[in-house]
Amino acid sequence: MQLNGKVAVVTGSGRGLGLAYAKALAAAGAAVVVNDVDAGTAAAAVKEIEDAGGRAVAQPAEVGTAQAAQTLVDRAVDAFGRLDIMVTNAGVLRDRVLWKMTDDDFDTVVRVHLRGTFTCVRAAVQHMREQGDGGRVIVAGSPAGQRGNFGQTNYAAAKAGIAAMVRTWAMELERAGITANAVIPVAATAMTRTIPAFAPHIEALEQHGTPLPDSLRKAEGFGTPEDVAPLVAFLASDAAAGITGQCIGIGGDRLALWSHPQEIAVAYADGGWSAETIAAAWPVSVGRTPETYGIPAPRTQEETAR
Ligand SMILES: NC(=O)c1ccc[n+]([C@@H]2O[C@H](COP(=O)([O-])OP(=O)(O)OC[C@H]3O[C@@H](n4cnc5c(N)ncnc54)[C@H](O)[C@@H]3O)[C@@H](O)[C@H]2O)c1
Repeated sequence: MQLNGKVAVVTGSGRGLGLAYAKALAAAGAAVVVNDVDAGTAAAAVKEIEDAGGRAVAQPAEVGTAQAAQTLVDRAVDAFGRLDIMVTNAGVLRDRVLWKMTDDDFDTVVRVHLRGTFTCVRAAVQHMREQGDGGRVIVAGSPAGQRGNFGQTNYAAAKAGIAAMVRTWAMELERAGITANAVIPVAATAMTRTIPAFAPHIEALEQHGTPLPDSLRKAEGFGTPEDVAPLVAFLASDAAAGITGQCIGIGGDRLALWSHPQEIAVAYADGGWSAETIAAAWPVSVGRTPETYGIPAPRTQEETAR
């Protein structure tokens, strides 16, 4: 993928998936603004990219406000003259079951993921529309946002909102030649390393270089951040000019297209429904095969062996 002459912002790219995205975009020739709330990791990421022959600058900022978003767009324009690719990846978790989740848990996650994505993409698109030659918006969704997940009211809400924004932006940005897509990643990072089914494999990979088993890479679609990054490079490229409004899953050896919600069963009643006629019709019409929900729990090593 050739991204020579293109300029990208990647939020939260000091480590984890964002770092892999920034490195992949830079390796393909793009100049990258590396953003992170942690200035140290952002600076280290820039050094790593420059050592590999790429172009990057660090812009520490806490994503979530219009001001932070504008700072990132301005930095891209000041340092590299333009902005073509906005990747919103910054994220935090505050997992708790609903009845224990505080307002702060909820607001923090919504601010960074949902508001952070909204503000950064709005600022980027304002600039891209002025530039007048299209652009790429690539945002981070999650299986939790697509399906719901235990303990993740805040995160699932934010990620589902991000998928909803992508579908809306694809419509709004089409005439400007700007595509908007969500990556739905699964990868070994600080965010996922404590999941019991994954933890021993991540440790073996990091300490002994033991490759992740097929049960993870294929069945769970779980791998490294470097397994996810090629999708971001592809979506940023001219080869993906016709792809917009999609939620695309990637992880380990898997690449997947997520469906969008749509009506799957419909019934009609002349003159409208009453509670009683709904009750009677439900089990034999629209309610016959209810939808499933939630991410299936990954199987532990012992369960897989059984
Ligand atoms: N790892 C996975 O399997 C997975 C699955 C689904 C979705 N995601 C999403 O991918 C993205 C990256 O996740 P990750 O696993 O690499 O996590 P990570 O915790 O390793 O990295 C997140 C990065 O974002 C930075 N960050 C946090 N808040 C910030 C803010 N307000 N402003 C700027 N930077 C901020 C952190 O400092 C960190 O460098 C997140 O949006 C996450 O929700 C990850």
